[in-house]
Amino acid sequence: MDNVKKALITGIAGQDGSYLTELLLSKGYEVYGIIRWDSIFTTQRIDHLYQDPHIKGTRLFLKHGDLTDSASIIKLITEIKPDEIYHLGAQSHVRVSFEMPEYTVNTNALGTLRILEAIRISKLPIKFYMAASSEMFGGINSPQNENTPFCPKSPYACSKVFGYDITKLYREAYGIFAANGIFYNHESPRRGDTFVTKKITRGIARIKAGLDKKLYLGNLDAKRDWGFAPEYIEAMYSILQQPKPDDFVIATGESCSVKGFLEKAFDYAGLGDYQQYVEIDPYYYRPSEVNVLIGDSSKAKEKLGWKSKINFNELAKIMIDADFRKYGLTPPGEGDGILKEKFPNRWWKVD
Ligand code: NAP
Ligand code: GDD
Repeated sequence: MDNVKKALITGIAGQDGSYLTELLLSKGYEVYGIIRWDSIFTTQRIDHLYQDPHIKGTRLFLKHGDLTDSASIIKLITEIKPDEIYHLGAQSHVRVSFEMPEYTVNTNALGTLRILEAIRISKLPIKFYMAASSEMFGGINSPQNENTPFCPKSPYACSKVFGYDITKLYREAYGIFAANGIFYNHESPRRGDTFVTKKITRGIARIKAGLDKKLYLGNLDAKRDWGFAPEYIEAMYSILQQPKPDDFVIATGESCSVKGFLEKAFDYAGLGDYQQYVEIDPYYYRPSEVNVLIGDSSKAKEKLGWKSKINFNELAKIMIDADFRKYGLTPPGEGDGILKEKFPNRWWKVD
């Protein structure tokens, strides 16, 4: 078993962590994931992968830890001695970061530093992936690429700029294989319920099922470059398999407004005009907004051979089919067809 690669994932129970776990297990890795202590299980997204560690041959192990607790991070890294660390754990909600700026910065910025310090002190040849974000650009100068200056517009974005910079610094100062993925919004049926695409597709399914009458949203004019999460996970893996550590923008190159996503989603679900169901609640506005994000992934195309296959229209269909199933409704089915056609060798479980 000595040749088996070990990966440690922070944020394993999140959207991306769950897909990455599936990808790495399919590639023969032993996967260790950090979960936060809670009085209830919050591992629903990886429950289908989890096995009792007493069973021989188990390759997924969950360990308690927290990005705000240096000792737990140092202990896990020195004990596990991973070949690769995928650092996905974060307080990842932009609006929440205005409500909890200190916690967000502690977790996202200092959490990243804590891991890098643990790697440096361990002297192990660990490869490190940092989940940086298009939010760092603040929507200036579209489309953005790896050379676009940052203009963070939220505590979340500021914390990610620190994470990005400190990752680069540890690469340059200490020769650590440390790479940044500057990812644009990527969504899936496993997306957290409070992010706008999932809030819309879940809201539509609940309206269809007769559970809700209205869906309350904030700024409908903001534009995002929305892609499909499993594709982005393949890029993440590929970034750590490069001969040299580097930073990459990962995006579809297409942008759509929240309004545009609403129109497509309501139409596909057979509910017609979204305006009959959607009400604006200023509670969901942000103190400062990123108006437009569009990414230029030319470097990823050239060096990683990566290009997205799913656009926002197809994404809405995939997510609605999944949410219809979740609420006991018969899905329209086009989303399932798109998955079969575009991903014949899927490595993830369809929700
Ligand atoms: P997500 O679903 O919100 O998952 C975040 C994970 O981080 C959760 O598992 C959460 O644990 C964990 N976490 C939060 N605070 C923690 C702490 N103090 N200690 C340890 N773990 C903690 O996020 P995602 O969409 O998968 O995104 C993954 C990463 O990519 C994040 O860093 C995010 O900021 C970044 N990113 C995401 C996108 C996107 O569009 N999805 C785009 C660019 C960058 P619990 O399960 O216990 O809540
Ligand atoms: N969440 C939310 N809820 N957003 C809304 C709502 C609502 O009710 N109504 C309108 N929006 C708008 C937001 O103002 C924002 O402009 C846009 O929808 C997208 O919001 P989110 O889905 O919350 O995502 P985000 O773009 O703020 O952040 C996500 O993407 C980043 C990458 O660009 C997160 O995944 C971040 O972690 C990630 O870094």
